[in-house]
Amino acid sequence: MADEVTKRKIEHVNIALERDVSAPQRASWSDIQFVHQALPEVDLDKIDLTTTFLGHQLRYPIFMSSLTGGHPDVININRNLARAAEHYGLALGVGSQRAAILNPELATSYTITRENAPNAFLIANIGAPQLIPQSGHQPFTLEQVQRAIQMIQANALAVHMNSLQEAAQPEGDRNAFGEAAALKQLVQQIERPVIAKETGAGVSREQALLLCSCGVSAIDVGGAGGSSMSALEAARSQSHGDERTMNIGLLYRDWGIPTPIAVVEAATARLPLISTGGVRTGLDAARALALGATLVGVGFPFLKAASESYEKVCEVIEGILSELKVAMQLSGAANLSQLREADIVVTGATREWLTLRGFEDELKAMAQRRWRRLQQQALNFKPDEPAYHIDPVTGTV
Ligand SMILES: Cc1cc2nc3c(=O)[nH]c(=O)nc-3n(C[C@H](O)[C@H](O)[C@H](O)COP(=O)(O)O)c2cc1C
Repeated sequence: MADEVTKRKIEHVNIALERDVSAPQRASWSDIQFVHQALPEVDLDKIDLTTTFLGHQLRYPIFMSSLTGGHPDVININRNLARAAEHYGLALGVGSQRAAILNPELATSYTITRENAPNAFLIANIGAPQLIPQSGHQPFTLEQVQRAIQMIQANALAVHMNSLQEAAQPEGDRNAFGEAAALKQLVQQIERPVIAKETGAGVSREQALLLCSCGVSAIDVGGAGGSSMSALEAARSQSHGDERTMNIGLLYRDWGIPTPIAVVEAATARLPLISTGGVRTGLDAARALALGATLVGVGFPFLKAASESYEKVCEVIEGILSELKVAMQLSGAANLSQLREADIVVTGATREWLTLRGFEDELKAMAQRRWRRLQQQALNFKPDEPAYHIDPVTGTV
């Protein structure tokens, strides 16, 4: 079992780097448009990107998504990611730690992150399927989960939800019954905040409420539109000669709730949200943040960069940050709370979906945030008061 898991870890990385496993969606980031501000009154060089996540102050709202570990050949990738996380003050997730829980000799591929990022917000990672009995193996014990957290002195634990990936995996765990109850129990037993993390199929409004009732501290909506774990498993199945799971992986390659939609749906639970899945530019990141995300997760671009060098990872970060700042300036936002108050117009397939799912009022409110603030200010205006001025950025008098 331990050998099988570690072999799978390196196959995932190699396939993701060698083949296109992305799954573009009809509903996409380009459906989210900012209302341009011709006189934005924001200095591009003074934009403040600091944010708070689970009680921690972060310099930037970017999460280097949980990607790898569990094989000696990925140590360098995790080292490059961790160095960048430390340098920029970003949150960083490690890949599933199952491999090292089963075989402690593999722990180095994870511990390398804390060694290189002593101050970063690090997120441990285990799978929801490992919290319940599966044919062939028992659920993790509490002690095993705690070992994963201690391995990297994690600030939080991500529990990934990946039923689609398991279904498309030749040796995948088939049981998903009881995961919510097991998650709820785990949350009560461990001393770190738990983040429920989808891996490419998204989180709906109802599932977000279920996760909230389980007591999780945050949700990574992990929506469709970026790396597809289903496509990844299809490629693995093909190389293993397993036609049945290969066909499942191909058929369900673009299954799921597109990321921008998942952000709006999951926001119903009023928990901190991470928007991961297909974020490729700083403009996508700005869209996710304006929709209500607290952090924006980026996976494949960091995996590719980290497989090359630390400098490449820094290049990706610098690119995203400078693109993000332009979107903020042009929408009149000098900081992230102002970005969350910027006007965004949701169109196309994203709008169609959200309207049918009952989010029409929310969409209208997002498109008229500034206008409604101005109207409110006008309503509050008393003519006998001294002359007033409406701040064009914040809308305050
Ligand atoms: C090669 C590879 C391995 C991954 N392994 C994990 C994992 O172990 N645990 C996890 O929670 N997510 C894992 N993911 C999912 C990512 O964290 C992220 O949700 C996904 O890549 C979507 O983001 P992207 O479109 O920016 O790549 C993996 C993704 C890739 C490409």
